This record gives sequence, C-alpha cells and structure tokens, in this order.
Amino acid sequence: MIKLGVIGSTNGSDLQAILDAIESGELNAEVSVVLSNRKGAYILERAHNHNVPAFFISHKGKPRVEFDAEITAVLKEYCVDLILLIGFMRILSAEFCREWQDKILNVHPSLLPKYAGGIDTNIHEEVLKNKDTETGCTIHLVIEDVDAGPILIQKKCNVDPDDTIESLKTKVQILEGEAFIEAIRLTQINNMATSK
Ligand code: GAR
Repeated sequence: MIKLGVIGSTNGSDLQAILDAIESGELNAEVSVVLSNRKGAYILERAHNHNVPAFFISHKGKPRVEFDAEITAVLKEYCVDLILLIGFMRILSAEFCREWQDKILNVHPSLLPKYAGGIDTNIHEEVLKNKDTETGCTIHLVIEDVDAGPILIQKKCNVDPDDTIESLKTKVQILEGEAFIEAIRLTQINNMATSK
C-alpha cells in the first residue's frame, strides 16, 4: 500500500478529502505522517484526529537545506513513498527536489501556468479582479522551479458572478481533493507499470 507523507503550513483542507477516501475504502493508501512548519497549523490537529503521526518542524533560523534535510529524515523514518504538499507555503531546496524526484505532488489553486507563483486566496482574488470566467486547480510534480513541474491533473470550474474569494476557495478545494485522489491513483498505476 502506498505510504503518503503530507507537508503543509495551514489548515490542510484537502487532507480531509484524502483521509475520508482512505477511510471509506475508495483509496488504497495510508497517510503515514504529516509535517508542518507552523506550530498551530490545523493540518496537525486534523492528522491527530485521524490517529496519524504529526509533527511540527520549525524552519526558523535554519538554512533551507537544513530544514529540508530534517523533513527528509522524518519522511524516511516513516518509509514514505509519495509526498503531498498541501498548502505548504515554502520553497523546497534543489537538494530536496532531487532526493525526492518524481515523488512530490503539489496542489496549486489555479489552472497553471496561470497564476504561477501566487498563493492560496491571493490567486482567487486575482481571478475575480481579472474577471476570469473559469478557474480550477492543478496537481503537478515538484521540480526546483516553483509551480513549473510536469502537470498530472487539472480540474476546472466556472467563476459565477456572485463568487467571492471564500466561495472560490471552497469550490476549488473540492476539485483539489478529487484531483489529489486521482493523482495518487495515477502514481500507483505508474509504480506498478515500472516495477513489472
Ligand atoms: C490549498 O488548498 C491550495 O489551494 C493552496 O492553499 C490552500 C490551503 O488551504 N496552496 C497554495 O497556494 C500552494 N502554493 P487551507 O486553508 O485549507 O490549508
């Protein structure tokens, strides 16, 4: 069974969709460990609520490579096969990206390459300002260049006239949860193909 390691800095709403899919038997995977660089991040509590080991690892005052190496050590301790970045608001070092090449998935709340480099609600705000008629999410492999790795899945939704930043975030996160589940399944299929 694929072992997932999740890293996030915020609430980690998408993690809920993944945990629910695992608990209902819809997804054959295990969330082995959750890490956050923010002490009070709800993603840690969300993990605890599902008996998933969860740890705060501070990045403060550490060179990027040192923080990333600490994360790698924990992910290896938990024998993680695939890393999911769920609202992780830090850039990963080239060393980390190389170490986990093709094993890190990030969710971005836009139809990349649109709004690459943006984050979370700032993107939804821009979508509204620009009067875009559609938006969505992207799951991509993480490479050293931010928001530039190969795209695995994109899901779209309409932007309605009465949409707000909050309503767009909710709509897009529903798509993010579905997209993650599909992307994890895709990774499992690819692993089976390459191990034959
Ligand atoms: C994620 O769902 C994703 O849309 C975005 O932040 C959200 C965190 O929401 N990720 C990024 O912008 C990554 N650059 P949350 O409040 O549920 O944790």
